[in-house]
Amino acid sequence: MKTTLIKNGTLITAADTFKADVLIEGEQIRLIGENLSAPPEAFVADATGKFLLPGGVDPHCHFDLPMFGTVSSDDHYTGHKAAAFGGTTTVMDFIVQEAQGFEHSVSLWREKSAKAAIDYSFHMNLTRFDEAIAAEIPSLVEMGITTLKVFTAYNGRLRIDDGAIYKALRIAREHGMLVMIHAENGDVIETLIEEALRAGQTSPEWHAHTRPAWSAVEASLRAAALAEMADSPIYIVHMNAGGEADMLQYARERGVKVMGETCPQYLFFTVEHLKRPDGAKWICSPPMRSEADNARLWQALADGTIQTVGTDHCPFFFDGSQPIVYEGQKIAIPGKELGAGDFTKIPNGLPGVQDRLPILWTTGVNSGKITPNQFVALTSTNAAKIFGLYPRKGALVPGADADIVIWDPAKKVTYGVAHSQQRTDYNLYEGWELTGYPEKVFLRGKLIVENEQWHGKAGDGQFLKRAPAAPVI
Ligand code: URP
Ligand code: ZN
Ligand code: ZN
Repeated sequence: MKTTLIKNGTLITAADTFKADVLIEGEQIRLIGENLSAPPEAFVADATGKFLLPGGVDPHCHFDLPMFGTVSSDDHYTGHKAAAFGGTTTVMDFIVQEAQGFEHSVSLWREKSAKAAIDYSFHMNLTRFDEAIAAEIPSLVEMGITTLKVFTAYNGRLRIDDGAIYKALRIAREHGMLVMIHAENGDVIETLIEEALRAGQTSPEWHAHTRPAWSAVEASLRAAALAEMADSPIYIVHMNAGGEADMLQYARERGVKVMGETCPQYLFFTVEHLKRPDGAKWICSPPMRSEADNARLWQALADGTIQTVGTDHCPFFFDGSQPIVYEGQKIAIPGKELGAGDFTKIPNGLPGVQDRLPILWTTGVNSGKITPNQFVALTSTNAAKIFGLYPRKGALVPGADADIVIWDPAKKVTYGVAHSQQRTDYNLYEGWELTGYPEKVFLRGKLIVENEQWHGKAGDGQFLKRAPAAPVI
């Protein structure tokens, strides 16, 4: 059995900060303590002056997702590799609900993820609903999938009506599952899109004008109300508007079992970015908002209103007609150029799975907006708890998987597409000066990233079967 001893690090968990050594035996943490020793054949890593963090858990990714006549440009190998370089060792992505049923849908995603490079789990999109589908939902729990994503937008495509969401919530309650919700007002959005196109407004900024913040605010409160009426928890994904944080706070203060996630892009960017000539790079749904929204979301992270920072990683090339070189091969995948001249045809989504920890550390921890312990809670521990993976993931305790990031708080990186491993041709944080970056990343005891070197491989990642009845935090 391979043994690794990490010496002299400062451990940062969601609750504590303390100096200790960590002994890893095989795939798990065996001991945490002072002056630990290891057999002579052990690999010893010196972490003096470094922090040890539990590997990041990203609850919201889209790998190899067919969309807008193309496919998200990171698959279950390239996206996982990028995640690892940024300090994330567990990712969750969303299965498309096929007409042939859940078993078929899950098997397609299991095939796609055979090349997984880090550990992973799935959520099931619930985009059609009838009595037969309702009866099939509990079979997902047997397959280790305990979460359903529903949409209140994308009329005629992904949306199911409020009655169906309410029924899904009741089924979830009975089986210890969790419903996740994309909260926007589909009816208002469809009306505004139709009017904008009729008026000849086709540029990227109209993506934001046709998806107003109040539509997300209204739908978030509706989500909380549905959850309360069904007496079932709900998790609001990609919260983007300050008013959504207000609604989350309102509902949580009243004991509603509602939790929320935001994503880095909603902390920094605004509709002004969509007005740039390359504005399509910032197109995702829900859209970028205002500086006041950015500030309110930061506040909600700091005061505990929002529980997680995911990424909604769903990258597309900015110009998919021009190949990039990826692992020595030229690759081009149709991307944002598909919507030149019509914002409704621009593939919705952004890269971010690698960016999340380094960007949040520099902008959140170094600036004093959040503490290092909050950083760990928001990027790892809370998601592990909410999604039924804790303490196997998201924890530095004996018996946990040895998913450990040796974090160098002094490492300076000029970030951008050249630095990023995400398989696309742009990065939202181009030229940002970062301080703090992963030095080494372990996945179940295996060193998979060492500075800029990749030691991982396709197939290293394991499917995480999740148990029902995860806590509401
Ligand atoms: O634009 C986005 N976010 N694409 C991914 C799908 C979703 O709604 O999360
Ligand atoms: Zn969504
Ligand atoms: Zn998403």
